[in-house]
Amino acid sequence: MKFIIKVPATSANLGPGFDTLGLALDLWNVTTLAPAKEFSVQVTGEGAGRLATGKNNLIVRAAQRLAERAGKPLPPFHAKCANQIPLSSGMGSSSAAILTGLLAGNTLLKNPFSREEVLNLACEMEGHPDNVAPAMMGGLVVSTVEGGKVIARKISVGVNVHVTIVLPNFYLPTKQARAAIPKKVSVKNAVHNISRSVLVVEALRMGELDLLSKVMTDKLHQPYRLRLIPGAVSAMEAAKEAGASAVALSGAGPSLIAFSTGEAGIPQGDDVGESMKRAYKAAGVEARIFRLGVVSRGVEIQSADYADGADF
Ligand code: HSE
Repeated sequence: MKFIIKVPATSANLGPGFDTLGLALDLWNVTTLAPAKEFSVQVTGEGAGRLATGKNNLIVRAAQRLAERAGKPLPPFHAKCANQIPLSSGMGSSSAAILTGLLAGNTLLKNPFSREEVLNLACEMEGHPDNVAPAMMGGLVVSTVEGGKVIARKISVGVNVHVTIVLPNFYLPTKQARAAIPKKVSVKNAVHNISRSVLVVEALRMGELDLLSKVMTDKLHQPYRLRLIPGAVSAMEAAKEAGASAVALSGAGPSLIAFSTGEAGIPQGDDVGESMKRAYKAAGVEARIFRLGVVSRGVEIQSADYADGADF
C-alpha cells in the first residue's frame, strides 16, 4: 500500500489570537509513503539536507507515538517528502510533520483513531492547537483545549483576503520565542486581546479588511518577540505604507504575515512583499516572499495506487 499525505502551511495567532487562531495557506508538504524494511525519510525542497533521514525524523517519531498509543507495532515505512514549508519559519512546518506522521501511522495501522483523536494527539505533541487544527481542517480555525481534547471550529474566509508572508533569514526557535513572553498579563492587556481576537475572526470572515486594520494588534506576545527579530518592526511599517491592511507576526515568527485586498497581495500597484523585504535588507537581513492564498481544505490522504488518487 502506497499513499500520499498532503498538509498545508499554517499561520497561527493572527495578531491577538495567541495559541487560538490559525489560518491554512496554499503551500504544501507532500509526502509519499510506502512500506519498507526499515524507517527512512528522503527530503526534497525545504529542509533537504537538514532534516533527519531515519528514526529521528519527526514524521517517524509521530507515527511511533500513535502506534504506542494504539498498542500496536508500527510497520516500517519509507517517506519521500516534497516540502514547500520552510523550517522554523512560523509557517507550521513542525505541525505539518507531526500530522503527516500521525496520519501515516494511523493509515498503516488501519485507522485505530478518528480524525478528532489524531488532532488531539497532534496538539499534545505540538503543545498548542493553533497550527495543527487549521492544518487538519483548512481555512480559518478557532481552537482551544478542554480536558486534553481539542475543540475547534472552522470559519470561512472572505474571497478578497490575500496573504503575503515575508520570512527573514534569521533563526528564531519557537522555544526561545515562547520563553520571551511574560508569564503574567494585566487585565487591560487581556481585554485588549480577547476583544480583538473576536473582531479579527469577524473581519476575516466578512473580508472586511478595514476592520482588520483596526483590530489586528496584540499585547500578549508580539511586543516581546518582535524585538528579537532585526528589521521586523520596520518591515511591519513598510507593509502598511505599501498598502497592506494589517500585519502580524506569523506564529512565533520570525516570518510576518500581511493581509491585503487585490491579486496576490499587490494592492493598487504597490508591492507589500517587496517593501517588507527592502526593510529587512536595510536591517542587514535577507528575506523571502511568499504570496499565498487561504485554503479551505486541510490535510488530504490519497492512495498512490490509483492514478487519479482517491481520498479516504
Ligand atoms: N501559538 C504558537 C506561538 C504558534 O505563538 O508560540 C507557534 O507556531
